[in-house]
Amino acid sequence: MITLGIETSCDETSIGIIENDRILVNLIYTQEQHNKFGGVVPEIASRAHLQNLLPLLKQALTETRLDSRELDLIAATAGPGLIGALIVGYCFGRGLSFSLRKNFIPVNHVHGHLFSIFLSEQKPRFPFVALLVSGGNTALYLIKDFYEMELLGSTVDDAAGEAFDKVGKLLGLNYPGGSEIEKLALLGDENFTDFPVANLAEKYNFSFSGVKTSVLRFIQKNYSEGMDDISKQNIAASFQRAVSEALVQKVDLAVREFKVRDAVLVGGVAANNYLREKLRESLKVKSCNLLYPDLSLCMDNGAMIAFAGLKSYESNYYQTNPITHPFPN
Ligand code: KG4
Repeated sequence: MITLGIETSCDETSIGIIENDRILVNLIYTQEQHNKFGGVVPEIASRAHLQNLLPLLKQALTETRLDSRELDLIAATAGPGLIGALIVGYCFGRGLSFSLRKNFIPVNHVHGHLFSIFLSEQKPRFPFVALLVSGGNTALYLIKDFYEMELLGSTVDDAAGEAFDKVGKLLGLNYPGGSEIEKLALLGDENFTDFPVANLAEKYNFSFSGVKTSVLRFIQKNYSEGMDDISKQNIAASFQRAVSEALVQKVDLAVREFKVRDAVLVGGVAANNYLREKLRESLKVKSCNLLYPDLSLCMDNGAMIAFAGLKSYESNYYQTNPITHPFPN
């Protein structure tokens, strides 16, 4: 089966083509037009997707030497995401499937991230625990099979990536702040100060708005005259430790409760090496493997949407669970 995946939920325009679980091509265009605004501007994102999609599709077909008629399935992200951005990719995919007379599979972006690990060399064994940490989501799942999963908990306010981006802004870093904070933190002292992370009644839920506010207060109280580089590095390291500890704690709890052999870290924040290391250390004691996808599969990408679409098609999930948000099937 050759599946085309289209991803346009936020600021990455991506086209991926897979043959079963093998990636043939995965082109990702990150829109840099948003950087100067300190966040994604929805209107700009939609227009950029509109400009990027056709050239990316042509490039993907050229690189794979495929003819569009050789595509068996066409999958596109249907949500969640920025509505205008989604409409562009969804309509592009649906129009293409109509003209080629192929099946069209709407895909939930979250499922794309959760199953992205299956495009990596080392695949998890069911059941496994999956932590999705991105700019828009932070959630913990028990995955029993493809499209058979239980949401254990999620953030009640900010996503972990969002907290990284907001603290990045407080430290005067470029958007998105995640990888910049990681770089700064390498030079800092993680025990410089303790930023508190909320402990919620629902044991698998997360909250990251408090830690962001405590960084803001700390800066206002101690650095009203401005911050030197060393203080920025120390704050970045202490913040990264606090967020990572909160994430590791919940994964630990779920691994013990469900006695899984594998835990999977997906989403943009999964690129963070400090978090990976802390998780790996803590899971090793419980004889649980930590798996995470390659870097290009951690970020928003078309290949993961193609794979989630293929599994949805094979299990008939898309017909029994129509994605009604934001478009009726
Ligand atoms: O999954 P993703 O590409 O898309 C969204 O959900 O938007 O994730 C992007 C998020 C951003 O918040 C970014 O700051 C964060 O992932 N991120 C990181 C790192 N690389 C990207 N956060 C922490 N450390 C990193 N190395």
